[in-house]
Amino acid sequence: MTGFTVTLVLVVAAAGLLRWRRPAWYWMTFGVTLAALRVRLRYASVMDACRLTVPPSRWRLALARATNRPIPENRPPRILRLRPTRTGLVLRLKLRPGQDAFDVAAASDRLRHSFTMYGVTSRELRSGVVELRMTGYDVLKRVQMPAKTDTSRPMRIPVALREDGGVHYRDYRAVPHALTLGATESGKSVYQRNLVAGLAPHDVALVGIDCKQGVELFPLARRFSALADNQDTALDLLEALVDHMQDVYQVIRAEQRISIAVPDAEIAADIWDLPEHLRPVPVVVLVDEVAELALYATKEEEKRRDRIITALVRLAQLGRAAGIYLEICGQRFGSELGKGITMLRAQLTGRTAHRVNDESSASMAFGDISPDAVLAAIQIPTDAPGVAVTGDSSGGWARIRAPHTSLRQAVNICNRHADRAPHLPALAAFRPAVPAVPSARMSLSKTAPATA
Ligand SMILES: Nc1ncnc2c1ncn2[C@@H]1O[C@H](COP(=O)(O)OP(=O)(O)O)[C@@H](O)[C@H]1O
Ligand SMILES: [Mg+2]
Repeated sequence: MTGFTVTLVLVVAAAGLLRWRRPAWYWMTFGVTLAALRVRLRYASVMDACRLTVPPSRWRLALARATNRPIPENRPPRILRLRPTRTGLVLRLKLRPGQDAFDVAAASDRLRHSFTMYGVTSRELRSGVVELRMTGYDVLKRVQMPAKTDTSRPMRIPVALREDGGVHYRDYRAVPHALTLGATESGKSVYQRNLVAGLAPHDVALVGIDCKQGVELFPLARRFSALADNQDTALDLLEALVDHMQDVYQVIRAEQRISIAVPDAEIAADIWDLPEHLRPVPVVVLVDEVAELALYATKEEEKRRDRIITALVRLAQLGRAAGIYLEICGQRFGSELGKGITMLRAQLTGRTAHRVNDESSASMAFGDISPDAVLAAIQIPTDAPGVAVTGDSSGGWARIRAPHTSLRQAVNICNRHADRAPHLPALAAFRPAVPAVPSARMSLSKTAPATA
């Protein structure tokens, strides 16, 4: 008996310790079973208390009366599936007649408290079926990306964890250009670094413009095909990219040769329609601190600024089909930066806002998309750098946080994949000079020359 008591105390203590120090492990060991039991056992009463039940139908009432049975109870939505996940539970419900998805969404905070879960979000899967995604703990506190992510589609990079435990992907083919805003020290550069690390193993040319003297992107230079660290080089680089874009369009034109015999599906209108051996490599242009490109003090600089913005607007308007994608980061990106900015912003479909200090900055990201998202971006606490609000493919928005990839980790990943940095003739002049002597760490990578 004492042996049993001691074991029990030890297990409870271990569970308590895990829950406090390692909520993710606690969830996978104890939490998930307890929560699934809790949801199963309390389901009917919680749904009733959250006013998500419907009165019995007429025929059931009539049947009860006819057979002299007690009046049947109110009925909650039927559970189609209860699936445990790495971070929580997914509950799929079939709504009863008269209920709608909005009822469930409006009750999600009540459900969260009643089931003692950390977060509950709901979405409609199809008419009459709603999915509740519940998380068991704060998944954004210590971001751990799942070991397995969906990498089946090219140019789709898992970059952050969503609040509901899902993975946020940066899908360049669905959303070619993106804007990331945030106050200083809010986590923009870390987000961008994650993107670079995610893109490094893919067949893609990386082009960087970092007017903060290159402190963020130059350490990753071995994986980059072109880099600029000041406005003058940035202008030349962007204009060279516009030339590269024209060349790519020539390749697509040459391949089109549309005749009556060519099936519709084979007419090439962008690089992804070209056969693989002809396809130009896609280019991702990363711009950190974009406002630096739009500021000027003298007349000369103003001319340069106008040319830079024009080149960016052209890339944003025409780049997608040529496989040129823009990834722009900045603190603010509004009309006060001068003409052309709002036009450029309108082309940047993907929006992400880290913590911002005022509503107008958040509005630059979401004002024209969702007022709720503006509010959510302002409410991000200062002690959670990296937490951001992002628009998602469904037109809604979600809170995300990228894993904290240190510069060292990103440098190692980039060095490991340095041989994948393609050589683009149009951008040859901007290819960063790679250090001649590989460091000890670099010589571990397969690209380094064998020096033994
Ligand atoms: N996803 C994250 N998780 C944890 N800490 C982060 C995260 N992103 C940023 N940080 C912290 O915030 C600091 C500032 O981030 P940084 O990306 O340089 O901000 P910004 O570029 O917006 O000025 C980083 O040094 C890092 O310590
Ligand atoms: Mg930064």
